[in-house]
Amino acid sequence: MCGIVGYVGEQNSAPILIDGLKRLEYRGYDSAGIGIICDGKIELVKEKGKVSVLEEKINGNDINGTTGIGHTRWATHGVPNQINAHPHFSSDNELMLVHNGIIENYKELKEFLLRKNYSFKSDTDTEVLVNLIHYFYSENLSLFEATRQALLKVNGTYGIAVLSRNNKERIVIAKNGSPLVIGLGKGENFIASDVNALISHTKNVIYLEDGEIGEITKDSYYIKSLNNDSIEKEVNKIEMDLDEITKSGYQHFMLKEIMDQPNSLNDTIRGRTILEEGISKLGGLQGFEERILQSKRIIISACGTSWHAALVGEYLLEKCTGIPVEVEYASEFRYRNPIISSEDTIIFISQSGETADTLAALKEAKRKGALVLGIVNVVGSSIARASDAGVYIHAGPEIGVASTKAFTSQIAVLILIALLLGRRKNLSIVDGKEIIQSLNSISDLVQEVLEQNSVIEKIAEKFVNAKNFLYLGRGIHFPVALEGALKLKEISYIHAEGYPAAEMKHGPIALIDENMPTVFIAPKDAIYEKVISNIEEVKARNGEVIAIIDKDDKYIENLVDHVIRIPRTNELLMPILTVIPLQLLAYHIAVKKGLNVDQPRNLAKSVTVE
Ligand code: AGP
Ligand code: GLU
Repeated sequence: MCGIVGYVGEQNSAPILIDGLKRLEYRGYDSAGIGIICDGKIELVKEKGKVSVLEEKINGNDINGTTGIGHTRWATHGVPNQINAHPHFSSDNELMLVHNGIIENYKELKEFLLRKNYSFKSDTDTEVLVNLIHYFYSENLSLFEATRQALLKVNGTYGIAVLSRNNKERIVIAKNGSPLVIGLGKGENFIASDVNALISHTKNVIYLEDGEIGEITKDSYYIKSLNNDSIEKEVNKIEMDLDEITKSGYQHFMLKEIMDQPNSLNDTIRGRTILEEGISKLGGLQGFEERILQSKRIIISACGTSWHAALVGEYLLEKCTGIPVEVEYASEFRYRNPIISSEDTIIFISQSGETADTLAALKEAKRKGALVLGIVNVVGSSIARASDAGVYIHAGPEIGVASTKAFTSQIAVLILIALLLGRRKNLSIVDGKEIIQSLNSISDLVQEVLEQNSVIEKIAEKFVNAKNFLYLGRGIHFPVALEGALKLKEISYIHAEGYPAAEMKHGPIALIDENMPTVFIAPKDAIYEKVISNIEEVKARNGEVIAIIDKDDKYIENLVDHVIRIPRTNELLMPILTVIPLQLLAYHIAVKKGLNVDQPRNLAKSVTVE
């Protein structure tokens, strides 16, 4: 986790670093800090809490220097306080480091350094690394070479930027497992954990790969492998505009992103279907279709919300292709030593494309010879680059920590993949065309659901003090129930659980009383009658029920306490519609509780540590 920025050029670096940190704050907000080279020493300002706290502190200070680095932290080693905040100095304040990742062998390295008379102020693994670099630096190596030698001794993950007070216009950087991008300007260069922090300065970027180390000055850069071989890098153009990463008048990014779903879904689907043939066309999978269709099974692996999308994907792909599909938590999958062969296709889903658990599972799958596909939002991210092939969801930047529009776009991509493969297997042209027509009108239907916002806000008011919530759905709506519960948990801190509605009677029903609200996802589908029986069971025990129902449903409204009405579409697309009221419900409850929905406690947008 964490966001890293760096600047070397001719401007005063402090405002550039602060601006960059604000754009990376979604990655972590336990503390923030900057270090800037001024008059032969490195000035350090760091504070516990958000970047705004740091900004206030800096406003009163006269720190003026043209080379600097900054960091916003999500703590892994050492509590979130001022001392553990980055940047970290070497014992003698000669070198300074910001770090994203975990130094796994920090204990033994620390013991070694203690024996060499180094001292430590913080509890972080990071401070060990800066002192280890210093150990080599003090043997008269260059900053680059000292960093390279130190990294050869390190196990773990890192994106780092290093300064030396003796090298006024130089930043050494390296990457292994945590993202790092160089932004190329005119007479100035930048580094950052992701391109969000760079787009107000430049569109020309270079993505570092694992095992690469480099150095930037204001008008040059070079990159080598850890073995010291020179590496030629491609310069990429970012195709994102600044207004995509601002709140555009909304109170929170999360609300903006929920409301953006008619557009984001259009962006996901546009140009990817052929109506006459009832099929999709996905450039990123071209040439791989046959191999996927020959697979003995498909595994979909992900974490969090993306894992919920994977569960919807299981339903979609099995139904349309007849190929058996399994869904795995990426974190569990990797450590189980899974049985994988070249006859498997494994799809990894990730909004950020940087989730460490997912990336590690992907590497393991690749090592075992499976075909590895990525469904990713962030273009050029680690998972996108490590996959054999894949499909971008093109949902646009998602900044709110709670994932919303990425989920609906992930489902849309899974439908497109199901169409592509299904038409060569179980799916008729008539069914294919029907799905495409539904995809073409999905954004209008999503808009219709969003128009229920004020109804949902009123319902939310009644549940601000709830302590627990149950979310129930069946079939393709079970993952939506899980997703609704996760949304509520992560931003309102209310305990919530998602269950298949029929499972309720096998245990959770014991929890039902007048203080335990239950949300039912109950559109009219093949198991509608059964869901009604489940609702009756809750009502018989005085439970309060909120139901997501079809707009023409006249039956359930008489049975339950609150209804949210949604339009109908093809059954396979229904999760895109049923999840939206759950996103809004969680959002309004959290806002009414006075919580920071964009930056919920203990969380960060992309979890880049295992
Ligand atoms: C979603 O609201 C969560 N914040 C989280 O579960 C997230 O979905 C998970 O960390 C996976 O992230 P990814 O899609 O970027 O890989
Ligand atoms: N391990 C470092 C720390 O705890 C960096 C944290 C991170 O990248 O999440 O300070």
